[in-house]
Amino acid sequence: MKILVVNGPNLQLLGKRKTDIYGKESLADLEEKLKKRAAELAVDLSFFQSCIEGELAEKIGNSRLEGYDGIIVNSAAYTHTSIAIRDALETFGKPIIEVHLSNIYARETFRHKSYISGVVSGVIAGFREYSYILALIALNQILNNQ
Ligand code: DQA
Repeated sequence: MKILVVNGPNLQLLGKRKTDIYGKESLADLEEKLKKRAAELAVDLSFFQSCIEGELAEKIGNSRLEGYDGIIVNSAAYTHTSIAIRDALETFGKPIIEVHLSNIYARETFRHKSYISGVVSGVIAGFREYSYILALIALNQILNNQ
């Protein structure tokens, strides 16, 4: 089972920016934890991070052809603005989990709107890096039940 984890703008700064909201772990720490959990579940995990909207849309758009079975996506600020990323996710046609480190509904109102929630299987927000672990467990379950 092949799962792609996509991270959007500024998430390369995890552990350095707004640690009160996003926690002190770096993106590399987070990926390491996910890799360990993925190995336990026998899932083949790949990671992609970009600050560029077009690169994110392109990677997501290619992911079906690249043989991915599922996607975990934190499109970060583009969550609240990007029709291009939504459209790319919609073309994937397989299970997708939207994740956020913070509880976007407990923050500024501009973060309450997600352009991508309407095209994903489920949303996990507010559990910091554990949001990704929960997403991996959920996606693995969904794919195993298919
Ligand atoms: C975020 C929430 C977004 O509103 C924000 O722009 C981010 C990170 C999160 O993981 O909590 O960059 O997606």
